[in-house]
Amino acid sequence: MKSSILTVTILFIAVVFSSAKNNPAQDALKLSIERGKKVYDNTCLACHQVNGSGVPGMNPPLKKTKWVLGDKKVLINIVLKGLDQEIEVNDETYSNVMPAFAHLSDQEIADVLTYVRNSFGNKASQVTEAEVKKLRDK
Ligand code: HEC
Repeated sequence: MKSSILTVTILFIAVVFSSAKNNPAQDALKLSIERGKKVYDNTCLACHQVNGSGVPGMNPPLKKTKWVLGDKKVLINIVLKGLDQEIEVNDETYSNVMPAFAHLSDQEIADVLTYVRNSFGNKASQVTEAEVKKLRDK
């Protein structure tokens, strides 16, 4: 009798552990992307379009560009400070002005960039709130 209770208990624990397969890092990334989509829709979509394609000759695309996939510091600074120079993106020249979005919180900037880096065919690491804070405080 005692051993069967023990067996049932062990089975129960095994089932509970195997069904709880959650990976905290993966969950945090998913949540950040979900929040970031809302920030994107409200803040970036008007210029960079729903699928990140941009508008030819006006607003550059966010698909696999060296800014989106490259150095996170440069990318974060584009949102914190805006961008006002002639740049070449995927063989097209852009020279419009992107305004700064420093009014967004560190978390919102981290989320929107994590969303952009994981949408429109992009795949790159998460941007964290701490990384944004560090650059804003500079
Ligand atoms: C008012 C229109 C506008 C809005 C809104 C806007 N951008 Fe931009 N963005 C631009 C323009 C124009 C450029 C190119 C600036 C230049 O040539 O100096 C640009 C450049 C960029 C670049 C670098 C070039 C590239 O395509 O990789 C990134 C990354 C970027 N924007 C991300 C964002 C994100 C994220 C948001 C929302 C937080 C945003 N932008 C909101 C107009 C906009």
